[in-house]
Amino acid sequence: MARKHLMFDTMSTIDTSRSSLTAGMVGFGMIFDETYRPFFESVSRTPLFSVETGPVSIKLISVATRTGDRALRYRDQAPSTPTRLFQSFTGTHAVRHLLASPVDVVCVATPDDRHYEAARAALSAGKHLLIEKPSVLNLAHLDDLLQIAHTAGVLAKVVYHKLADPDHKSLRTLVADGTLKHVNNGYCSLLEPKAISRGQFAEWVTGRNPATYVAVHYLKLIDFVFGPSWSLDRITATGQRGLVATSGGTTWDSVQLQVVYRYHDAREAAFDIHTSWVTPDNFPGYVEQEVQFRFDNAVWNAHQRKRGVELTVENRTPCELKNTPNYHYNGVFLEPWGERSQRGYGIEVIERFFREVAFVEFGGPSEHRTERLHAMRALTYNDLSADRNCVAIIQALEAILERAAAGVPGCLVRVNGPFGGLVLHEPGSPSPVVLYHEPV
Ligand SMILES: NC(=O)c1ccc[n+]([C@@H]2O[C@H](COP(=O)([O-])OP(=O)(O)OC[C@H]3O[C@@H](n4cnc5c(N)ncnc54)[C@H](O)[C@@H]3O)[C@@H](O)[C@H]2O)c1
Repeated sequence: MARKHLMFDTMSTIDTSRSSLTAGMVGFGMIFDETYRPFFESVSRTPLFSVETGPVSIKLISVATRTGDRALRYRDQAPSTPTRLFQSFTGTHAVRHLLASPVDVVCVATPDDRHYEAARAALSAGKHLLIEKPSVLNLAHLDDLLQIAHTAGVLAKVVYHKLADPDHKSLRTLVADGTLKHVNNGYCSLLEPKAISRGQFAEWVTGRNPATYVAVHYLKLIDFVFGPSWSLDRITATGQRGLVATSGGTTWDSVQLQVVYRYHDAREAAFDIHTSWVTPDNFPGYVEQEVQFRFDNAVWNAHQRKRGVELTVENRTPCELKNTPNYHYNGVFLEPWGERSQRGYGIEVIERFFREVAFVEFGGPSEHRTERLHAMRALTYNDLSADRNCVAIIQALEAILERAAAGVPGCLVRVNGPFGGLVLHEPGSPSPVVLYHEPV
């Protein structure tokens, strides 16, 4: 964090020449390429700007991965010198080396069961943190990260880019304005191709399931848009095995998750979330996403793939180019004014996080930093402190699938009941298993 003056009372006193943030990336895979890369490339050309901060330059200076192959390939072909000037650390101590470099902000985009250690190390080193969803896989880890972030006085945030999808923003607006009244139930479906489980994620897919990785998008959408006039009540799940790995193993092809909330007047709302990573590779949309919510007075339906363009190109669709691309999420454009750009809500949400860090560090006098920090922590769309219900559901889901793989299907996890915060009940067993003692 470099700056000349710490006293920014008015625009006229802002020294705009030196405000800068340096970033480190832990994990450099598919999501880096889709969202972080275009953000860092764009901000290397045009610093972030707001009236409060003035221009803030942001540079990716360090990367930590297992092998470094993709980072080096990218460095060879990155579009401009600033985006090539990062150090690549690999192997067991990669994160330690990254944290020893002068980074202000760390982004964690490793596989979902490897977020916690890197996130903990980053916060312990006093770095602002952005974690890909799902933030962590259990509430004990969430509590730990929140405690460290609190002590270190830094931001700890999670990426939920679907909250920035214009369709979902309009859903939230209709709910907030009272046009859609009282959600009762709904379904969400997100299906990914076999190429994801068999190719892209083959290195880490063993023992994993597609729900932890993608159902969280919808868990957060539901919790954020329709809460907080209710409490999470119970979670059940089932799934199928036999395509990605053996039918008796711990790796899941597809998962059906049901989450039930209870309103304060005792009415209930139930949501079914279906996920898979074994859809055929030549499925027209590549990724298939559909959502429906039913209210007291309305039905709201969204199909992410059928809301716009349909494209067919000989020998190129549906694998290299998509038949039904989602340009709202991410698109490469020739702008009407002649520039090339890559943008969409997947990238906006990363930019927004860096704006929040910039606001904390450069958005006013240093003696008011704590107020700015609290204001940014109060943003429940991405703050880790607002991720409790999602993490609780993921912890419950993982426990239910683990029991099912061990030969005990049909478990149910109850939230904030008489035995504890998160308690697993096996069919026919009188002894509940406490997954988390404290209230969720
Ligand atoms: N926001 C979204 O919609 C979205 C989409 C895809 C993925 N994701 C999330 O991003 C994360 C990564 O997914 P991906 O698709 O980029 O995966 P990927 O398999 O393409 O890339 C994973 C990266 O992590 C690195 N890595 C693995 N273990 C590591 C370790 N112990 N230390 C350091 N680096 C390590 C690998 O070298 C690789 O660079 C996951 O949490 C996933 O849920 C989010």
